Amino acid sequence: MTSSQIQIAPSVLPADMAHLADEVAALEAAGCDRIQWDVMDGQFVPNITFGPDVIRAARNHTTLPFEVHLMVLTPDLLAEAFVAAGCERLIIHAESVTHLHRTLGYVRSLGATAGVALSPATPALACSEVLDLVDLVLVMTVNPGFGGQDYLASMEGKIGRVREMVEASGRDIEVEVDGGIGTETIGGAARAGANVFVTGTALYAHPEGLAAAVSELRGKAEAAFGG
Ligand code: DX5
Repeated sequence: MTSSQIQIAPSVLPADMAHLADEVAALEAAGCDRIQWDVMDGQFVPNITFGPDVIRAARNHTTLPFEVHLMVLTPDLLAEAFVAAGCERLIIHAESVTHLHRTLGYVRSLGATAGVALSPATPALACSEVLDLVDLVLVMTVNPGFGGQDYLASMEGKIGRVREMVEASGRDIEVEVDGGIGTETIGGAARAGANVFVTGTALYAHPEGLAAAVSELRGKAEAAFGG
């Protein structure tokens, strides 16, 4: 993956959990590039979603890569189970651990790639000393915990600062955004420097269905990226 290739990463939060196998297959058929699993523990964020067993149940129903967005207070204790469940990438919130450098190194020791997530109040510099350990930096464009929130355009400056840091690192690191991403907001995030777009509510609400949504979102991001 290159750090400038546009990627559409659906969040399965709005999907029909009673038919998860069909839902992940439909996301692949719609042209999505990966699937992001929003794991929440009710402690780091005031919401609880799903664990490794649910992800494992979906694993063999799509060939898309799985990345897990760990919105949990104990990622070190849970990492191995998510890798075993079939997640190729684990995204760790900088705010959720005391020793981020050690946690990211542990994720890599399990054979997964690592990403670091920054909540809105966390400065871009919080990832500056771990860029050698990550393949992705996630700039949250909402406060983590729930889908369907409004996009925080105020994060576009931070997206740009992260993009500059990534470019200066000389490493092939993706810049991902998550929260309120839809046809009206993806252009601003792409112009600011994001190349991977997590979307849930807007994707599933598109009047012409998943494939049309993916195509429209990708087209808008490609037209705007870096512009
Ligand atoms: C917040 C979640 C959401 C979800 C996508 O913790 O991470 O951002 O993935 O949300 P929407 O529905 O805004 O695309």
